[in-house]
This record gives sequence, C-alpha cells and structure tokens, in this order.
Amino acid sequence: MDMNRKDFMQSTVAAGTLLATMKARAVENAELSAIKKPDDLNVAIIGCGAEGLVLLTACVRIPGLRFKAICDIWSYSKRYAQGTLRKHGHTVNVYDDYLEMLDKETDLDAVIVATPDWMHAEHANACLRKGLHVYCEKEMSNSLEKARSMVQTAKETGKLLQIGHQRRSNPRYIHAIEKLIRDVKLLGRVTHATAQWNRGRTDDIGIPKNYPISAETLDKYGYNSVQEFRNWRWYKKYGGGPIVDLGSHQIDLFEWVFGVNPSSVVASGGIDYYHHHEWYDNVLCIYEYHNEQGTSRGYYETLTTSSHRGFSEAFRGENGTIEIAEIPPRGNSALREKHPAVPAWEPYAEQGLILAKSKPIVAAATKNVMIDVRASAPPESWPLPIDLTKPAHQPHLENFFNAIRYGTPLNCPGEKGYETAVAVLAVNRAVASNEKINFKETDFHA
Ligand SMILES: NC(=O)c1ccc[n+]([C@@H]2O[C@H](COP(=O)([O-])OP(=O)(O)OC[C@H]3O[C@@H](n4cnc5c(N)ncnc54)[C@H](O)[C@@H]3O)[C@@H](O)[C@H]2O)c1
Repeated sequence: MDMNRKDFMQSTVAAGTLLATMKARAVENAELSAIKKPDDLNVAIIGCGAEGLVLLTACVRIPGLRFKAICDIWSYSKRYAQGTLRKHGHTVNVYDDYLEMLDKETDLDAVIVATPDWMHAEHANACLRKGLHVYCEKEMSNSLEKARSMVQTAKETGKLLQIGHQRRSNPRYIHAIEKLIRDVKLLGRVTHATAQWNRGRTDDIGIPKNYPISAETLDKYGYNSVQEFRNWRWYKKYGGGPIVDLGSHQIDLFEWVFGVNPSSVVASGGIDYYHHHEWYDNVLCIYEYHNEQGTSRGYYETLTTSSHRGFSEAFRGENGTIEIAEIPPRGNSALREKHPAVPAWEPYAEQGLILAKSKPIVAAATKNVMIDVRASAPPESWPLPIDLTKPAHQPHLENFFNAIRYGTPLNCPGEKGYETAVAVLAVNRAVASNEKINFKETDFHA
C-alpha cells in the first residue's frame, strides 16, 4: 500500500486517537469498578486466626463486600488470611497494628473483630469510635466491665455492634425456636433445656517452625509467652475457659427458648486433668428460669477429656423435645411424647413445619425385652425441614451487613451479647465460690 506523508500523518493521528480513546475507556472502566455501589461495603478484619479464617471464608461468598485491610500480630495468620482473600479477588493492605490500620484506612465501613476475648473491647471500641460498624466474635469479653463499655460505645457512636453468636441467625434455629416452640407450641410447655459441648483430650497448640513470633511482639501486645499466646483460652488474663468459649453459644440459646434471662446458676467444675492450665477443664452447671409458664431449668456440660455426645442442644417440653445442633447429623429432629394428651403432629407435617415421622428402628435383639412399667414409650422422631446450605456463620454475617445496608435489625446486638456474657461468666464465679449465684434482672442491663 502506497502511503504519502499526509496519509501517514492522518493514520498516525487516527491510531493515536484510538489509543487515547481506549486508554480513556480503560481508566473509565477501572474508575467505574472502583466506584462504590450503594450496596458495596469496605471491610477490614482484626485477628485472622482460626475463627478469622472461618469468617473470611463465609464473607467472600457475600456479594458487595470489599476487603481493604487485614490486621494481625502474627505472620502465619496474616499469610493465610491474605492468601484466602487474594484467591477471591480482594487485594488487601496488611497491618500488624490495629491503630495504624484505622489511621491509614480511611474509607472503611465495617470491621470484623476476631482476636482473643480479652482484646475485643479495645479493638471494637476503637473501631466504633472511628465511625465504623463492628462484628465482634463471642465471648464479647472475659470481663463484664469491658463488655459493658462496648455496649456503651456503640450507643454513644450510633454504630452497629453485632456479637458472633451465629446460631441466632441460623434459619434452622430460627425455625425451631421462633416457629415451632414459640408460635406453634409444638413442645407445649418447655420445662428443660440441655446442651453440652464435649471434646476429647487435646494437647496444647504450638507454633509452626517457619512462623515464629518474636518475644518483643508478644511483650508489646501483652502475651506472657508463646504458650499463652497460642493457648489463650485456658488462661484467666485472655479468656474464660471452655465454659465461656464453648458454653456461651449454647447457653445463649436457653434465654432465646425461655424468653427470659436466668434467675440463678449453680455449678461444679475443676482443673482436674490439665493441671498446668488456669481455667476449669470440666464444668457442669444448672440455671433456673422463671417465665409466665412457670419454672424451667437449663443444664449445661462441657468436658475436655471425653468427646462423648459431642455438641448439641435439646429443648424439652411436656409434648416433645427438639434435638438440634449446628451440624444437622448431630441433631435435627422433633421427638413426640406418646402421652394421650399430646395432639397429633400429622397436621404440622402436612403444613411442612416438620417432616413426616421417621420409621422407628427396633433392633431384633430388643424386640422381646419387657419394658418396665416406669419407662415411657420411646418418642416418635419427626425430622426438621429446614436446611442450611451456606457456611454456618454466613447468615449471621449477612444479618450484620444487611443491618448496615438496609437497617434490618441485628439478631445479636451488643445488648443481647452482654446478657449472655452475664449468664456465662457467672458460672466461673459459681464454681470458684461453690455457691449458688442469684441474678437480678438489672444485672443483665449493660
Ligand atoms: N463463633 C464461633 O463459632 C467461634 C469459634 C471459634 C472462636 N471464636 C472466637 O473468635 C475469637 C478468636 O478465636 P480463634 O480461635 O480464632 O483464636 P486464634 O488464637 O486462632 O486466633 C486469634 C488471632 O488473633 C491474633 N491476635 C492476638 N492478639 C492480637 C492483637 N492485639 N492484634 C491483632 N491480632 C491479634 C493472633 O495472632 C491470632 O491470629 C475468640 O474470641 C473466640 O472466642 C468464635
């Protein structure tokens, strides 16, 4: 092709114009994708350990969240959190210190706090004061004074504070408690709630060889040793022991089921096996509840030397029991008592509120066993119909982010988390004093 100078100049100009236009479009597209849509939220996390990762894994499934920063004092946690987020398209700034993060990250909307319990108040309060909404893991704090300060800071700043009792947003629990127990009164009067979280023997957690944490860092952030940093749950400075760590999730449900806070608790427990730890390694406790239906009791057990019965909850009433657990194979049914006064459950199954009765499994060897006259006939089992197809923490995180976006009420605001903290932290006092602890309703007001 012949091209004179004029043609050449024209085509060069045209190519230049095209290039410029393309560049402008690319910038425009990049800008557009950087423009926050009304539903987009900029998020950071403080504390990226085991639970931090669980929360991040649930968060990356929620549309509209943009992780901007992560903060942790340990390289190991930072590496895995950053890698998880990168895999899902989030490029984050990484910080050791939360104050530096809050200083430099000026366009955040919300922060997730998943540090050990003793740091929750300091981290949550600082974020709230920066004008950010906070999702803070349970236990709200290992000190009631600090837990109270979180409720007050949320009130003062007008920002949202959600506490991580995630069963409160789980559709399976909402169906069991709100629909079946409350509305339909499937169990009649609920006289008892029981729950346990039992674990087999465990060794102390160590630190991977390639991810040391320096003595200066431990000292700067208040940890007495690597042993205490990794096994913080067992030490009074940082946590509340198994009754607080595990029990808080399930004891929280007792209040939801009975509709009132407990009036007292008695407890027995001890450091009977892991003698180098500071917190009780087994605790058995009984709460009393008084509501308009009368007196009810909630029994809780946490063992760390036997995993027998694992973790599950049972809400037991005159007409039946609901057995439930965060993992359905451990509990997902309603058991109907065979007393003549118990109404038929078929109509509930027809409405889809429960599934059709399971066929009882009778082992050949037990068929001919005489049933003692004192024994009740075995209850019939009716499976619960609701499935949760998301990670267990996702609905609670969605509840938090929807509260920011649309003003939906929080399922576990600071005030509710505080009530649970009052009930749960009292157990350690009851064990130590060997005395019944009586609560006044005002004890539950933050
Ligand atoms: N909701 C649930 O089901 C559930 C389950 C497990 C744990 N939790 C809660 O989550 C929280 C974290 O527990 P975990 O099991 O992940 O503990 P973990 O020890 O695995 O992780 C804690 C992380 O916090 C970091 N950290 C400690 N102090 C810090 C500080 N001052 N600043 C920044 N980072 C700091 C640690 O380096 C670590 O990475 C606890 O409050 C725990 O009770 C909740």
